[in-house]
Amino acid sequence: MAQFVPVEPFNLVIFGGTGDLSRRKLLPALFHRWRDGQIPEGSRIIATARTQMSVKEFRGFARKACEAATDAEAWDAAGWKAFEALIDYQPLDATAEGADWAGLAGRLNQEIALNVYYLATAPRLYVDIAAAIDAAGLATPSSRLVLEKPIGTDLASARAINEGVCAHFAEEQIYRIDHYLGKETVQNLMVLRFANRLMEPVWNRTSVDHVQITVAEDLGLEGRAGYYDRSGALRDMVQNHLLQLVCLTAMEPPATLEGDDVRTEKIKVLKSLKRFTPELARSATVRGQYSAGLVGGEKARGYLEELGEDAQSDTETFVALKTGIENWRWAGVPFYLRTGKRMSARWSEIVIAFKPVPHSIFGETRTEANRLVIRLQPDEGVRLYLQIKEPGPGGLRIKSLPLNLSYAENFMLRYPDAYERLLMDVVRGNLALFMRRDEVEAAWSWVDGIIAAWGENESTPEPYPAGSDGPVSAALLMDRDGRSW
Ligand code: BG6
Repeated sequence: MAQFVPVEPFNLVIFGGTGDLSRRKLLPALFHRWRDGQIPEGSRIIATARTQMSVKEFRGFARKACEAATDAEAWDAAGWKAFEALIDYQPLDATAEGADWAGLAGRLNQEIALNVYYLATAPRLYVDIAAAIDAAGLATPSSRLVLEKPIGTDLASARAINEGVCAHFAEEQIYRIDHYLGKETVQNLMVLRFANRLMEPVWNRTSVDHVQITVAEDLGLEGRAGYYDRSGALRDMVQNHLLQLVCLTAMEPPATLEGDDVRTEKIKVLKSLKRFTPELARSATVRGQYSAGLVGGEKARGYLEELGEDAQSDTETFVALKTGIENWRWAGVPFYLRTGKRMSARWSEIVIAFKPVPHSIFGETRTEANRLVIRLQPDEGVRLYLQIKEPGPGGLRIKSLPLNLSYAENFMLRYPDAYERLLMDVVRGNLALFMRRDEVEAAWSWVDGIIAAWGENESTPEPYPAGSDGPVSAALLMDRDGRSW
């Protein structure tokens, strides 16, 4: 049985309460936590947005959102009624003169000291909203501010956001979300590495040949063309999710799991990432953009067609790159990363590819090197490929087979969505799974180097058919090194 520790009562204000994130993730996450008994009586969830809407209308919106995110047979209408009583709505144009802050303040449960402000808005509004919360007298020392990614579009804009919000909230009050850190399987990375004696002695350049990280999506733009075309795969996925996976795979054991210990280890990895020059970017990065193709047997339009008639764009929907971590543990070990939209399937995994045995006593019989495959989604689990003698006569045959630790077979749980864990961590004041200011900036500093190199090289993305595994050059990136994805 899953165990849920109730948190303290809280007021949660969602700015951008009628937006996509609120509808798809935040409201359902809160509903599921409430249904599991984790959210105590007295807590309030107050959505705000510019839209003029009554509380009743907003509750209707929230109900639709939560029903859509809950299995039909698990939907509990009576339970919803009780949850709905926690939900309130305040129309508010947070950055406008004369906005009704008193109205918002009046909806907070004044007996509760913990106010959480979740900015689920466009990042360009973060600083102004933080300032307005402060001016309204609501930035109390016990309040917390949650910022969604992306924090900026480059180092300069990320710094401006960080400086702007830090003028109104202390760093310890700011929770920068990267929802990958809330995924069960991503957290399991730390357990796998640091709760198993077997891992540490081989988790380094002596035994590891290379590391591969793939985050593949079969979806395309999903109505986000405006944002995505200005961003592209490097900014949208690599700067945050993939680099976080690199950090958790490569970091040293933290002293404890408390906030700053984990974050301090992660930033050391970011600072040790090999920087790209234009020359290196030419040989060690691949940009792709999907063209029309078949995804899961269905016709899918190309990126430009999805953007609209006669659209022109050099935005990449796929990135693959080879990098390295310049420190004692990882010197000389390549890290290959790739991510893309409209690929053949949705799958995310980390592969630790070990070196072959130093000497084979099996003569002509081929043996493969060990691989540890950490599957983040779907089919969550861990597979360790070992060499096994195939039974029977007829000479020695060796097979590579996995020890398979499947989540689905071992745990009969519904996996909580990443946002469920992260929202409750904000309420608990647990900063470990959130990005610190210097972490975000270090990640941008590295990504800015790639963007500058692409600019200097006048690079354009290579087409790949929707439903494939990316451009040919991505396969060649590994092939040249005698390896494969
Ligand atoms: C978001 C990106 O941060 O992560 C999206 O902006 C992407 O483009 C999404 O689709 C992927 O998240 P998940 O949890 O579905 O792997």
